[in-house]
Order: sequence, then C-alpha cells, then structure tokens
Amino acid sequence: LEIYLDGLRGVVPRYPMTFEGWEEKARAALEPSVWSYVAGGAGDEQTQRANVAAFARHGLVPRMFVGAKERDLTVSMFGMTLPSPLMMAPIGVLGLCAQDGHGDLAAARAAARSGVPMIASTLSVDPLEEVAAEFGSTPGFFQLYTPTNRDLAASLVQRAEKAGYRGIVVTLDTWITGWRPRDLSTSNFPQLRGHCLANYTSDPVFRGLLPQPPEEDMNSAVLHWAGIFGNPLTWEDLPWLRSLTSLPLIVKGLCHPEDVRRAKDGGVDGIYCSNHGGRQANGGLAALDALPGVVEAADGLPVIFDSGVRSGADVVKALALGATAVAVGRPYAYGLALGGVDGVIHVLRSLLAEADLLMAVDGYPTLADLTPEALRSVG
Ligand code: FNR
Repeated sequence: LEIYLDGLRGVVPRYPMTFEGWEEKARAALEPSVWSYVAGGAGDEQTQRANVAAFARHGLVPRMFVGAKERDLTVSMFGMTLPSPLMMAPIGVLGLCAQDGHGDLAAARAAARSGVPMIASTLSVDPLEEVAAEFGSTPGFFQLYTPTNRDLAASLVQRAEKAGYRGIVVTLDTWITGWRPRDLSTSNFPQLRGHCLANYTSDPVFRGLLPQPPEEDMNSAVLHWAGIFGNPLTWEDLPWLRSLTSLPLIVKGLCHPEDVRRAKDGGVDGIYCSNHGGRQANGGLAALDALPGVVEAADGLPVIFDSGVRSGADVVKALALGATAVAVGRPYAYGLALGGVDGVIHVLRSLLAEADLLMAVDGYPTLADLTPEALRSVG
C-alpha cells in the first residue's frame, strides 16, 4: 500500500521489486570477479538451479472465508521472540558488496532497523564486536567456520559471547571450498586477498600464531589463515563444539535425517538445513527436498532453512514444509550492492510484504496455519 500510495504522488520505487531485478542491478554495480563469487556455485551449478526450481513444485492451496485481516508472523525460538521468521544467512564476502567496503556493518544496521536477525559470518571485513554493536535490539547470531586450531575456535566463540551474540551457528559443509568454476577461471578468490579476515587478524590467538603482525605482513597472515581455516570435523568433535558455549548451538549444512538425529542426541539446540546455496557440492538434492525429512528428524528442535529462497512465496512454502525460520543469502547481498543499508532493508521488506500478502490472500493468517497440508506438490 505504501508503494501504491507513493505512486499516486508520482513517486516510483527506487529499487526493483523482484529477485531478477536485484540480481541485474547488483551485477552492474559489482566488480566482475566479485559478482562471479557471489552469484556462482559449484560445478555447472545444477544444484543451485535445483534449489530454486524446487519451490515451483509446491503451491499453497487458497482457502476462502477465512477473513485473514490480521496476520501473525512472530516466531519463538531459542528463548527469543522474533517479529518474523526471516533471517539473513551468513555471507563471507559482504564487505566486497558494499560501496564503502563495510558490508557487515551495513547488514547489521539493516538488522537493527528491520528486526530481521543477521547471522554474521566468521569471514567478515568488520570485526565481530563492531558488527554486534550495530544490532540494536535485534538479536544477532555468530557463524563459526571451525579452524583446526582449537584455541582459536574457542577464542572466536568467547569473543562472540562477550559481544552479545545470541547463538552460535557452526557451518559444517565448508571445511574445504567446493569446485567453483567461475572463481577458478578468474583464480580470484576474495578471501585470499586478505578481505574478510578481520575476525582472525583481530584475534589474540591468531596473532600469536604469526611470526609478524598482520599489519606488517598481510601475505603471510593470509597464507597462515589458509593453512588452518578448515577442520574436517567428525562426530567425535561434537562434544567439544558443544562445550565451547552455553549459547544456543546450531549446526548448519544438515540435510540427512540420520545426521539430524545424531546432532540432536549430541546436544545441539537447532538444526540449519542448507546446501550452502549450491556453492559447495554440485549434483545434489535441492535443499528444499531435504527439508521435510530434516524437520521430522529434528522432532521439535528449531529448524532454520536456506538455499534458493527468492521470494516471499518461497519463504511461505519453506515454512509450510516445517521450517521454523527461513534465511536468504544472495538476495540481501544483492540488496547491499544496489543500495547499502537501504537496499538490504528493501529486499527484506519486499520478501516479508509478499509473504504477508500471500498469507492474507490465501487465508493462512498465522505460521501455525502453514502446515504441509496447506501445500499441493506437483511434478
Ligand atoms: C555464502 N554462504 C556462507 N555460509 C556460511 O555459513 N558462511 C559464510 O561465510 C558464507 N559465505 C557465503 C558467501 C556468499 C557470497 C554466498 C552467496 C553464500 C552460504 C549462505 O549462508 C547460504 O547458505 C546461502 O547463500 C543460501 O542460498 P541462497 O539464498 O544464496 O540461494
């Protein structure tokens, strides 16, 4: 309504209203190698396309005589009540998407203004303390890429606790980088230029591992980081991960019900069903197709979902398939590229407005109404 009323006064929206529009504008705004890094995925990107295509196979069945004048999108998880189930997925290249280089701060400011929580990546341009300082009253989460050095992992988590993060998301699917032809063909992997390493270069444990401070020799800091970045964790590491924090512990990248059951038995507080937006493994299942099995195995634990969400309708469908919260990656990175803080807020508000309107017109006024029975699956 706000947009149509503006239209009466001759004001047209500053930013596009669809994912395709955000993508096109972001492509024009970003340096080509950064664009490739953000937009691209693993292999020939079949999984990435499957993630998106999976949503088209489900549709909400409209219900009438519901009078869904008021909608309630609030969601409770991990002891917090959030105004909506939308979240910003961790993105490790955000700084490169922002004109001033401070994409993490911009996303955190958008979180503060929109109420949509940000999951701040380990691989940020801005140190996690500075990012947390921008969250306002919106809860923030810290995403951990677990380094091989356990003291460094513990230090990152302790810093996140001290900075006021409300949960730790451990990403399990990226201890090694997938086969990404777009990045390989430019041989331009942004992290290896020292971008996004602020959490390491500001960390006392990491600094203690270096022969010289990173300010004096960034190249050797980057090489050192590359040597300890990825830890191929096994189930034996889960008790240690659990012992790192008393905050809610959420594990990201789970798609197999058996893994979910085992993680639950190991004491995690939440499951994050994701295939990293098709950036890690190609030839796999669409993340959405894994969601129902994950939800069943989670047996009441909150399930965050991402990978392929491009619209408010997609958010609603993931909720109907059992997600507790739904995160977006590329959509808000593109929002950042096209309009900084305002661009991110525009993308988040557009997704939420479309979801809210769909729940209104189709007669599903609350999240509790969105069950698998609300969906008809085709093809
Ligand atoms: C990511 N993703 C990611 N995940 C994570 O746990 N830590 C990270 O640092 C990053 N970095 C990152 C960079 C870029 C450029 C992208 C696009 C993605 C994965 C991210 O959290 C999420 O799983 C996917 O982006 C979801 O898919 P969509 O919404 O992009 O389709």
